[in-house]
Amino acid sequence: MEGSDSSVTARVTAFYERHPYPPPVDDLDVYRRNWDDRRRRAESHLLWPAEPYRNDRSILVAGCGTTQAAHYAVRWPKARVIGIDFSAASIAFTRELKQKYGLDNLEVRQLAVERAAELGQSFEYVVATGVLHHLADPDAGLRTLSGVLAANGAIHVMVYAPYGRAGVYMLQEYSRRLGIGHADAEIRDLAASLKALPPDHPLAPLLRNSPDFASSAGVADALLHPNDRSYSVPQLMDFLDRAGLSFGRWLRQAPYLPWCGALASAPHHSKLIELTAEAQYAAIELFRGTMVRHSVVAFRKDRPAHNASVDFDGDAWLRYVPVRLPDTIVVRDRLPPGATAVLINRNHTYTDLYLPIDAREDRLLAAIDGERTIAEIYGATQSDRSLARDFFRQLWRWDQIVLDTSGAAQTHS
Ligand SMILES: C[S@@+](CC[C@H](N)C(=O)[O-])C[C@H]1O[C@@H](n2cnc3c(N)ncnc32)[C@H](O)[C@@H]1O
Repeated sequence: MEGSDSSVTARVTAFYERHPYPPPVDDLDVYRRNWDDRRRRAESHLLWPAEPYRNDRSILVAGCGTTQAAHYAVRWPKARVIGIDFSAASIAFTRELKQKYGLDNLEVRQLAVERAAELGQSFEYVVATGVLHHLADPDAGLRTLSGVLAANGAIHVMVYAPYGRAGVYMLQEYSRRLGIGHADAEIRDLAASLKALPPDHPLAPLLRNSPDFASSAGVADALLHPNDRSYSVPQLMDFLDRAGLSFGRWLRQAPYLPWCGALASAPHHSKLIELTAEAQYAAIELFRGTMVRHSVVAFRKDRPAHNASVDFDGDAWLRYVPVRLPDTIVVRDRLPPGATAVLINRNHTYTDLYLPIDAREDRLLAAIDGERTIAEIYGATQSDRSLARDFFRQLWRWDQIVLDTSGAAQTHS
């Protein structure tokens, strides 16, 4: 992408005025019904395992588009949510939702991400999904967001990933060569022409499976975007580092881990687990080959130490309270030999990410109530301690549970 920062920004602004993203919705009722306290608690411990559950955080949704800030206000009714976006069209859609649903906890401002400091406050949760990779200077954008993150704050960043988007970048280049612009008719013709794409083109799986291609706004956002870059795992880690942030976890971690899915039993498993965590993620991104985005939770490098990550070495795990993640399901038919159930997280897109469990593990799973610690669970089920440790670590790695580690953290503080 060529051009000065200001000309890039002007083109991106014009693009989103014309193609607000995602396609606006006017009904949040289904979304609201989906977000109960159980789901909020799970999300809270995903972001802050070491802090007792709270639902009154301050939240900044940066580059909120048409709907996302309203979603967060609905999802966290006791939180204070600010949505910013430089697109007047997106802000107008968000304001309509605010009014229609009486979202008094939502403030909406037409403001560039790069100017978030002008809000004059810090936030415990910053959400920047699908936006930083479109900025003229993504580093400056992320540094600004890092600067408004509270000391204990968590930032959720989603950026594009390169290898799974190879087909997207081919079609972007194709469209540039044909001089295809952003007029509705041009987008319609492009979408129609995609029907003639060879079935084994690298874009074909995305066309078939990605909701992003279901609308003309999605086609335009993917294929005609004036400024779009992507980050491999090592590039993403450097990006966070340059902004004063440290990697916390993947929003969904199983796809990146050598203990989950097909790699758990491949000959290379033993080599992969010798690597550092970051080197594992980088290698597995290459091995999986089709990741189209990375969703990461990061923290300030100088965050208070008590916020330390989940750890199954030592004894602290005994005091962790497992909390089931929503969107997980237990399948009990057509099972592999020896399994009493198979656990699936419906947010996973890779078909190798199903976890068979046996009868002893099934008893441990059934005893999770969001209140008891792992020690209490294995005591109550008269299970073996090392089985319990391995199983709960596995459930955590496989995105079946999050862990409330606040009990263990307080003991150490
Ligand atoms: C692909 S949409 C994503 C919207 C939303 N974050 C979501 O995930 O649904 C990107 C949004 O970022 C906004 N945007 C892009 N660059 C921006 C900037 N520099 N400052 C503020 N908003 C920006 C666009 O207007 C658009 O609404």
